[in-house]
Amino acid sequence: MTQKKTLKLPKLIGHRGVKDLCPENTIESITKAFDLGLTYVEIDVKISKDRVPILLHDDTLDRTTNGSGLAIDYDYEIIKKLDAGKFFYKENTNIFVPKLEDILNLCTNNNGNLNIELKPNKKFEKENVYQIYKITKNINQIDIFFSSFDMISILEISKLYPQSIRSFLLDDFKEYNIDDLISISINHDLKICGLNIDLVTADIIKKIKKSNIAITVYSDKNINLSSATDFFSIGVDSIFVDNPLDLLGKF
Ligand code: G3P
Ligand code: MG
Repeated sequence: MTQKKTLKLPKLIGHRGVKDLCPENTIESITKAFDLGLTYVEIDVKISKDRVPILLHDDTLDRTTNGSGLAIDYDYEIIKKLDAGKFFYKENTNIFVPKLEDILNLCTNNNGNLNIELKPNKKFEKENVYQIYKITKNINQIDIFFSSFDMISILEISKLYPQSIRSFLLDDFKEYNIDDLISISINHDLKICGLNIDLVTADIIKKIKKSNIAITVYSDKNINLSSATDFFSIGVDSIFVDNPLDLLGKF
């Protein structure tokens, strides 16, 4: 029988590697995170047309590469030829969109751990989870937890890989309120939830913690030392950081 994974969360998780210091979701960004001393990075993963799990935040290639259109419309061989560093450095680079497999090797070689955000293109949610499950199910050298805003993805990973550690992400309370979040987490054995910084209050954190659910907090801007200190003092377990330079060694 496969052993149930145990939860060990660090205070700081590198967001898309360290997205303010290097092009997001690239080998360079993740290497930098580990070089700086982070022990965990978050990445966004979706499949290409030929079903290769790759690192890409958006549905389309436009913002972070010199390609355009939906990633799901292109084989990885084509996507790999794109420049995934030019949007950041404003000049041509050899930085490419990596496969999830590249990052699993990188983490193993650096003793680094991984939060895989399941970020599927619409209608490919189950296929996305299946392909990611296939290449992560036998990885024991590093810790991995899965997260998603997408209910189909969370249900699918819970079904396929019940011994994994999983986190439901919530950006707002439009579709699900705090009670929904807690019951979804309990019903599907989700040990962590991830909240947008704007949703965080001491009362909300207290309520979630009562149900024994760990809490991560993310933002679309870097979370600074003073906010991080406040969050940890009210019981937040981890924060996603775009640039950890001011926070390292402080917690
Ligand atoms: O998982 C935390 C964070 O990555 C969620 O937001 O848009 O940066 O993927 P986003
Ligand atoms: Mg993400």
